[in-house]
Amino acid sequence: MSKKLLKLRVNGRAIEVAAEPHHTLAQVLRNELNLTGTKVGCDMGTCGCCTVHIDGKAKLSCLTLALECQGSEVRTIEGLNEYSMHPLQKAFAECGGSQCGYCTPGFIMKSCELLERNPDPTREEIKEALAGNLCRCTGFMKIYDAVEQAAEQLRKKQPEPSPVKV
Ligand code: FES
Ligand code: FES
Repeated sequence: MSKKLLKLRVNGRAIEVAAEPHHTLAQVLRNELNLTGTKVGCDMGTCGCCTVHIDGKAKLSCLTLALECQGSEVRTIEGLNEYSMHPLQKAFAECGGSQCGYCTPGFIMKSCELLERNPDPTREEIKEALAGNLCRCTGFMKIYDAVEQAAEQLRKKQPEPSPVKV
């Protein structure tokens, strides 16, 4: 099959890469762009390991054809660099939310999407948001603890609203 030129932005950088029509976004990220933080577990949409953000929405990169992302903004775990260590990464480490770590980038990208849209989720909302992500190591409770801890840290980093002038 003939390759086509794919133009997109990845973690804020404009990228041009040749991709086969059957190549998934996960394959292009890992094999062509060397962004191996995105993991592939099941390669069939059932584990959540490969979660990235496409135009601000968490999506499974193993089920997304790379050429579908023409002109899109993609963010991977390597793109969470607004902080030296993102509060989610810190919280996963501190709470024991990561053991072998294979599932962790997917959980963090999915959690990041949740906290960007809902900065103060309940535990039930966290469970619901992460229902498509599987972990074989942690038993999930420490992951939920980590998301709650990160949410609290991120809320503290929010700028105070400016005082209303009267
Ligand atoms: Fe994509 Fe499992 S690798 S959902
Ligand atoms: Fe090993 Fe989740 S930490 S699968």
